[in-house]
Amino acid sequence: MSFIINDKVTWVGKIDWELRRFHGHEYSVHRGSSYNSYLIRDEKTVLIDTVWKPFTEEFLENLKKEVDLNDIDYIIINHAEIDHSGALPELMREIPDTPIYCTSNGIKSLKGHFHQDWNFVPVKTGDTLNIGQNELIFVEARMLHWPDSMFTYMTNDNILFSNDAFGQHYASEYMYNDLVDPDELYSEAIKYYANILNPFSKLVERKIEELIKLDLPIDMICPSHGIIWRKDPMQIVNLYMKWAQAYQEDQITIIYDTMWEGTRRMAEAIAEGIKNKDSKVNVKLYNTSKTDKNDVITEVFKSKAILLGSPTVNGSILTSMVAISDLIKGLKFQNKKAAAFGTYGWSGEVIKILAENLEKAGFELVGQGVREQWNPDQEGLERCRGFGREFVESL
Ligand code: FEO
Repeated sequence: MSFIINDKVTWVGKIDWELRRFHGHEYSVHRGSSYNSYLIRDEKTVLIDTVWKPFTEEFLENLKKEVDLNDIDYIIINHAEIDHSGALPELMREIPDTPIYCTSNGIKSLKGHFHQDWNFVPVKTGDTLNIGQNELIFVEARMLHWPDSMFTYMTNDNILFSNDAFGQHYASEYMYNDLVDPDELYSEAIKYYANILNPFSKLVERKIEELIKLDLPIDMICPSHGIIWRKDPMQIVNLYMKWAQAYQEDQITIIYDTMWEGTRRMAEAIAEGIKNKDSKVNVKLYNTSKTDKNDVITEVFKSKAILLGSPTVNGSILTSMVAISDLIKGLKFQNKKAAAFGTYGWSGEVIKILAENLEKAGFELVGQGVREQWNPDQEGLERCRGFGREFVESL
């Protein structure tokens, strides 16, 4: 399949409706994804990015229907990660001398992955490539989200090929933001930001400020995953700016795992206490052993505060809580508050461990946490309600 975007640009990527896990098994993609590759035909012919390796054969077959590969003058690799560069080795087998434009870090990554000394042309921010009526301008986007990432801007048509930035793991044959369900699009875009770009929020903010200073009019944003932003494309840039600035909603998320329901009952009593004190706050509860971890992360991203709970097990906490704590730490959330809770039988390390995890993750601890022995009785549950009330009061 290919898709005409305008008289010069054609989408030649792959929509992956089957994909449910990305980055190995690490990232859930409930709505599939796409690997967007773009073919520009001006006086020169340019290919921007390729697709993930398993789709190499059909990518090349498709591309050959659009263009004689020998007519491709330049390849631009905005980002060397395999979901965009996977088809490059086979493509280069057919057109081995074609210059590949990418950042100097891109060269390192591509060499590291494919061990080939192709005809690389390193580019920096502000470098341009004249392709006829239009010009391509390169903008490095280091750590958004890899050291090699960059954007390519096409003049006259005013298209920003932004690679991963502004993308979503969202398969849709509609292709454009004004045609898809806006709620689905929003939920995939925010999940993508929370799980991939959040640790680099300071850089996101700076990069957007830099883009604004460059004063490049943007009529369309063509990311490397998901749909193209053509109606009010700056809406996603504005959302990124908001998300990059320690984003939070009036939400508290309670994340726990439980062995014999004691910690679950504590979680629900704490939620009750919170709601008693503040009926407007959106309290959400997730059992980590039953909930997709990337969806939980999206809820953490939206929260002003979180509570982590677990039973004490073998002097530690349940493994699903170890995993989610570590994931939260790596994503470097800003300006969020937190507390710990949990049950125990004898040694009772749960609060200490979860509080340490939260501190290491950069959360501001509120209160001492609450711990109940065995399964909480009515008195214990009332203590949890009281804890919930105090917690929300102190935010
Ligand atoms: Fe879509 Fe960073 O690769």
